[in-house]
Amino acid sequence: MAILLPGGAGFIGSHTAVELLNAGKEIIILDNFSNSKPEAITAIKEITGKDFKFYEIDYTDREKLESIFESNNIEAVINFAGYKAVGESVQKPIEYYTNNISGALVLLDTMRKYGCKKFIFSSSATVYGEPQKMPITEEFETGGTTNPYGTTKLFIEQILKDIYKSDNDWDICILRYFNPVGAHKSGLIGEEPKGIPNNLMPYVSRVAAGVLQELSIFGNDYNTPDGTGVRDYIHVVDLAKGHEKALQKLEKEETGLYIYNLGTGTGYSVLDMVHAFEKSTGKKVPYKIAPRRAGDIAMCYADPKKAKEELGWEATKTLEDMCRDSWNYTKSQMIN
Ligand code: UD1
Repeated sequence: MAILLPGGAGFIGSHTAVELLNAGKEIIILDNFSNSKPEAITAIKEITGKDFKFYEIDYTDREKLESIFESNNIEAVINFAGYKAVGESVQKPIEYYTNNISGALVLLDTMRKYGCKKFIFSSSATVYGEPQKMPITEEFETGGTTNPYGTTKLFIEQILKDIYKSDNDWDICILRYFNPVGAHKSGLIGEEPKGIPNNLMPYVSRVAAGVLQELSIFGNDYNTPDGTGVRDYIHVVDLAKGHEKALQKLEKEETGLYIYNLGTGTGYSVLDMVHAFEKSTGKKVPYKIAPRRAGDIAMCYADPKKAKEELGWEATKTLEDMCRDSWNYTKSQMIN
């Protein structure tokens, strides 16, 4: 029985593929490389020394998807496919809603057709909108997303709840990621945003590499200890291990719809991140204070207790690991 990973060549998908292979699972990756590279497939094989099937297809292509289900014995699907650039989603809402939501529906409908009902979904802390207190538990209300990307996560969560309600044979796990950073320690897989990065860590790494001149810190007048935004940064390898634990739960226990925060429970400010990065890599990160970025909130960090209690999962990697591994990957990509 295989685990199907649509979008498995991407940042979080590739790290999860490595963890699943290391845990002795059979996997199948499908990806259209719209935001990833074929090299990731080779890298996963090199890191793990294991082989697996790969299909270059668009996960919204029903016919091709059906032929994959037809010719393989698929036990569960972990869906990493989908567009994820917040700013771009504001410019291209139709593309985002079509690819993320119609894509998920094609996938779920195909799963139903082939009697495969174990599904793990990559959601985001963005579904909590602007919470009034911290840390964020899974019980907090969702809604109030500020961009189409976030809204696709919110809508797909609702779709999954409705599907489970209609048919309790489904076994669904929604994982709400906080801020994934870092890379595999081999430096062979990592985050590779196209063009100028929007997210903090890839931006900081590129400033350290001399590819970008300086970091703009978006606001230093938030109601936080040093005035800059606070987030729950989580090492992508810890995050990947969370998927393996979620899969174990779906394989072992009775069917259900489960929701977990995947975060560390600790918030760091933008300045904390800059200083930690400088300390663990020995590189300077020049920065300036810039106006706040539209749609940003002051603070966002998880209460990860539920995942610890029910999945037996908790993040173990430090901020230093996150900075060192992000830098190691950027260096291998940018500086030759
Ligand atoms: C963003 C998305 C979130 C998505 C996540 C991962 C929003 C509102 N949220 O989270 O939906 O799941 O990325 O893709 O966009 N910062 C700077 N300078 C920079 C970049 C960032 O100061 O050049 C600051 C931000 O203001 C924020 C923190 O760094 O305080 C983290 O930003 P970022 O990495 O973009 O993640 P989020 O905005 O938390």
